[in-house]
Amino acid sequence: MSNTNIKVGVIGAGAIGNIHMGAFAKAEGAEVAAVADAYLPLAQQRAEEHGIGTVHGSPQELLEDESIDAVVIGVPNQFHAPLAIEALKRGKHVLLEKPMAIDSEAARTIVLEAEKSGKVLMMSHQMRWKALNRAVKARIDAGDVGPIYNAKAGWFRKKGIPGWGSWFTRKDQAGGGPLIDIGVHMLDLSLYLMGNPKPVSVYGSTYAEFGPKREGIGTWGTPNWEGYYDVEDLASALIKLDNGATLSLEVSWAAHAAGLPEDPFIHLMGTKGGVSIVGDRGTYVTHTDNEVAESEITPLDGDEDRDLMTSHFIECVREGKQPIASALSGYTNNRILDAIYESSRTGNEVKLSWN
Ligand SMILES: NC(=O)c1ccc[n+]([C@@H]2O[C@H](COP(=O)([O-])OP(=O)(O)OC[C@H]3O[C@@H](n4cnc5c(N)ncnc54)[C@H](O)[C@@H]3O)[C@@H](O)[C@H]2O)c1
Repeated sequence: MSNTNIKVGVIGAGAIGNIHMGAFAKAEGAEVAAVADAYLPLAQQRAEEHGIGTVHGSPQELLEDESIDAVVIGVPNQFHAPLAIEALKRGKHVLLEKPMAIDSEAARTIVLEAEKSGKVLMMSHQMRWKALNRAVKARIDAGDVGPIYNAKAGWFRKKGIPGWGSWFTRKDQAGGGPLIDIGVHMLDLSLYLMGNPKPVSVYGSTYAEFGPKREGIGTWGTPNWEGYYDVEDLASALIKLDNGATLSLEVSWAAHAAGLPEDPFIHLMGTKGGVSIVGDRGTYVTHTDNEVAESEITPLDGDEDRDLMTSHFIECVREGKQPIASALSGYTNNRILDAIYESSRTGNEVKLSWN
């Protein structure tokens, strides 16, 4: 690719689209040339704030613009698959917000289109680039942990239902509740740190004890009291992996969870040592002469997570590299999420095959 900046279009000017515009403004090798939102005044406002030249009131207008090389998709989950597929068909690279899609069938169609197009399809899982999480990955890669055979990950928001009644709390628009919203981050990071083992079976349950009563409302998103709530507000699951390891995943938007941290957490237990991430604190543990020895893990220096993620996307586009947050990882996450919902519905373990 030449030395000129890649031209990026941001689809979705809401909370996350705004964050992406800020990250691309700081990045080298790319510039945001256009923004689109179904609500044109918001797109216009963002364009003014970020100095973006072209504004559209529909994603289709932006996708028809042949000068745009890559798009960021930051709209409600139900639109991820149709917009990603259209973008890929039009020869654009895609940085796609999580979750990849509202279900694994829709996610599979994105993977197939990405393979056909040969363009970069990267998932926006910024947690992989957090300074502490990079330090933990480095410890694992250095062999300090050994093979990881058990992991516990979760995120308990105690009063954090986003946008009650809006797309966030509607199954047909979001695909689910906290499991697909914040659980997908913990699932993605756990599998990445564990070396991407394949899930083979899943057992789980979901509950909705706060949302239907309009309780447990948080501050993210804008409520729509004319809307409705038909997703879970707590999920608990056990995922078995093809290397024999197990991962338990526990998430809530709202819960009576005294004593549990509000922060996201991951505990990874290996044969040589263990690593824990609780919020911004990382700990390494090992047993020496039958004594438990714990030490703090220092976050790595460097840019902010979203800035590094943005740079990685630009590098992949410019150099034709495969992103570490790949289309396959997004699809794998969606397969597991579907299986948890299915297991909750049927009461049975769900087996996953990969042929
Ligand atoms: N990576 C993260 O940590 C993170 C954090 C928050 C949200 N997200 C994801 O980002 C996406 C958007 O979330 P948000 O919090 O910004 O939501 P939001 O409601 O703040 O913004 C969504 C925007 O999309 C626009 N929109 C809706 N349908 C559209 C369409 N068909 N075409 C164009 N624009 C459309 C809306 O007008 C709105 O401005 C979701 O998929 C969410 O899961 C990711």
